[in-house]
Amino acid sequence: MATTDPKHRGTWNSKIGFILAAAGSAVGLGNIWGFPTQVADNGGAAFILIYLICCFIIGFPVMVAELTIGRKTQKNPVGAFKALSNGNPFVPLIGYWGVLCGVMILSFYVVISGWTLAYVFEELFYFFNYDAAAAYVGDLGNGVKNSIFTLFFMILTVLVVTGGVSKGIERATKLLMPVLIGILLILIVYIFTLEGAREGIVMYFRPDFSTINPDLLLSAMGQAFFSLSLGMGALITYGSYLNKNQNIVESAAYVTIFDVGIAVIAGLLVIPAMYVAQAGGVNIMDPVTGALHSSTTLVFDVLPEMFHNVGGLIGLLLGVTFFLLLGLAALTSSISLLEVPVSYVIDEHGLKRKKAAWIVGGLVGIVSVVVSFELGLIDIFVSIFNEVGLPLGGLMICLFLGYFWKGENALLEMENGNEGVSNSSFSKIWIIFIKFISPILIAIVLFTTIWGLIKS
Ligand code: PHE
Repeated sequence: MATTDPKHRGTWNSKIGFILAAAGSAVGLGNIWGFPTQVADNGGAAFILIYLICCFIIGFPVMVAELTIGRKTQKNPVGAFKALSNGNPFVPLIGYWGVLCGVMILSFYVVISGWTLAYVFEELFYFFNYDAAAAYVGDLGNGVKNSIFTLFFMILTVLVVTGGVSKGIERATKLLMPVLIGILLILIVYIFTLEGAREGIVMYFRPDFSTINPDLLLSAMGQAFFSLSLGMGALITYGSYLNKNQNIVESAAYVTIFDVGIAVIAGLLVIPAMYVAQAGGVNIMDPVTGALHSSTTLVFDVLPEMFHNVGGLIGLLLGVTFFLLLGLAALTSSISLLEVPVSYVIDEHGLKRKKAAWIVGGLVGIVSVVVSFELGLIDIFVSIFNEVGLPLGGLMICLFLGYFWKGENALLEMENGNEGVSNSSFSKIWIIFIKFISPILIAIVLFTTIWGLIKS
């Protein structure tokens, strides 16, 4: 089996470069598109609270684990587990499962990302009164149009990944992340000045604990894994490009706080924007169930209607910048989803980066064209690969690290760039989380869900 010389795999150029790249992977559609609607649908602040618990109690320890495994082995997820498997044939399956989840998540992720690009045009066409063109690009059910935007987005993703670790991924995210934060803050400040925003803020922060049930717990956990890019080896891969002098625990803490912070801030944009839309006469609730509209309807129906109600140049600017924001956030995540299978093909099959990126991107592109026509697949893929797949991956990573590779070995790796960590109280608590708390919590939630599925 071909393996590439680790020296030629590339490394992050700077500490901040890595943190922004990992935060770029984390901050994506999950934060701006997924999180706010989950909050609105699942009891407001009650969901936020459970989500925070999932991120910090389950997600953060797993993130430290993934980065450590990556940096120790300097390999893609499959190669990493092989390297630490001691010949056990089952251990590398964790890596294969991660690559599969990455590929399948990417195949629908680029379709939704393509919609965000299409809506930039929708807003422009609407402004210039090209109504037919606006309706065409705005039609989510049009498979041909979806495929064009999906493939365009996939090509953008491939182009960044072909640039390599520091010249492609790091450079793109270093540029895009500050732009993204800037746009987000400007949009929030403007939305807050509009009628109805206040009601949205109140709704966002009002907890309703009566909505907490096993389904909600799974949603919160799935959302936490998805949003933090955990469970499939994206951060094993990013960790494999880390220098030995970087502090893994500190970096993971920054990335977690960054991701959670952006999700909470994005909620401050999206939820008030819904209520602004309502104040402008747009229907934001499902007339039958009384629940707020789903994420797709919300982002691609309710919000554009609100931008159109604001009207004029400001309405146009709001609409275009919002969809660009979503598109940029999606791009810094899709590159990390593609980097996982690409690094696998480079390391394990000896392909050159450029060739690997185009071949893998092309194959996933074919699946994503199918998804563009059969949108029902998105829900199926989300259930299998995101809601169950990622926590399952996380569970296996915890069990592997805690019981097979052993915490002491992981701590030895973490000592690089963080001297003394193995004797710190952090490390004792972290091991307890990796061995017991995180896996037990993940297992309980997964078991309850699977049991519920079997019973129904
Ligand atoms: N974290 C990304 C988001 O929130 C999605 C993602 C999941 C990226 C898994 C990489 C790995 O949109």
